[in-house]
Amino acid sequence: MAEVVIVESKAAAGALVADEIVALIDSKPDTVLGLATGSTPLPVYEALRERLAGHDVSRVRGFALDEYVGLDPEHPESYRSVITREVIEPLGLDPARIRVPNGAVETIEHAGDDYELAIDAAGGVDLQILGIGTDGHIGFNEPGSSFASSTRVKTLTEQTREDNARFFDSIDEVPRHCITQGLGTILRARHLVLLAFGEGKAAAVAAAVEGPVSAMLPGSAIQLHPHVTVVVDEAAASELKLADYYRYTFANKPAWQGI
Ligand code: PGA
Repeated sequence: MAEVVIVESKAAAGALVADEIVALIDSKPDTVLGLATGSTPLPVYEALRERLAGHDVSRVRGFALDEYVGLDPEHPESYRSVITREVIEPLGLDPARIRVPNGAVETIEHAGDDYELAIDAAGGVDLQILGIGTDGHIGFNEPGSSFASSTRVKTLTEQTREDNARFFDSIDEVPRHCITQGLGTILRARHLVLLAFGEGKAAAVAAAVEGPVSAMLPGSAIQLHPHVTVVVDEAAASELKLADYYRYTFANKPAWQGI
């Protein structure tokens, strides 16, 4: 099962995950990171800022989870812009080594296959950072997504568009389509790290970690993966039935195991 770590704050979550990523980069300088956007991963990127200073990141590679279709890449809320602003620039990564799915309409037919080939050519993702939507999506794999899916175009649910409207001037500006790594793509990463904060995520987290494995709750795909770490604050953990067991397990974990 997933290892669930309940932390007291977003900053503690960021520190825990950032320590793991720094150790990974130190041991494998051409580490391939799976990068999530949205609010959730920001504490990780913030913690990495200080921790990566002085480390060689020149060979680190990265693949974003998803992108809007038809949104100008220069738009401040395109995930290309977000990844540049939140990850590439502050961490000093090489922009040529960080890819985001290409959401341009003209080439969208092949964009998913191109992305899969690029991930394969890089040797696969070593550590995939994930958030989870209130509807249980990971990446932009909305309910009903196949567990075998690869990078492809999806239609966003109205719930997701409403959730993401806060980044735009109005909900009308939120694109209706996206290109996202599939659940099958995500499951091929070697280590999944799913983060969630706040009460609004509690039901999705409980369903993903402890609920039945179902395409209706795409986050439940993590139960099929051999190495998953779920890092949540108390509020996001509030509907987990085995919360005490997770606390006990983590408190008694041998230090050498890492996450
Ligand atoms: P959030 O989004 O991190 O902005 O809450 C998570 C997601 O939709 O996957």
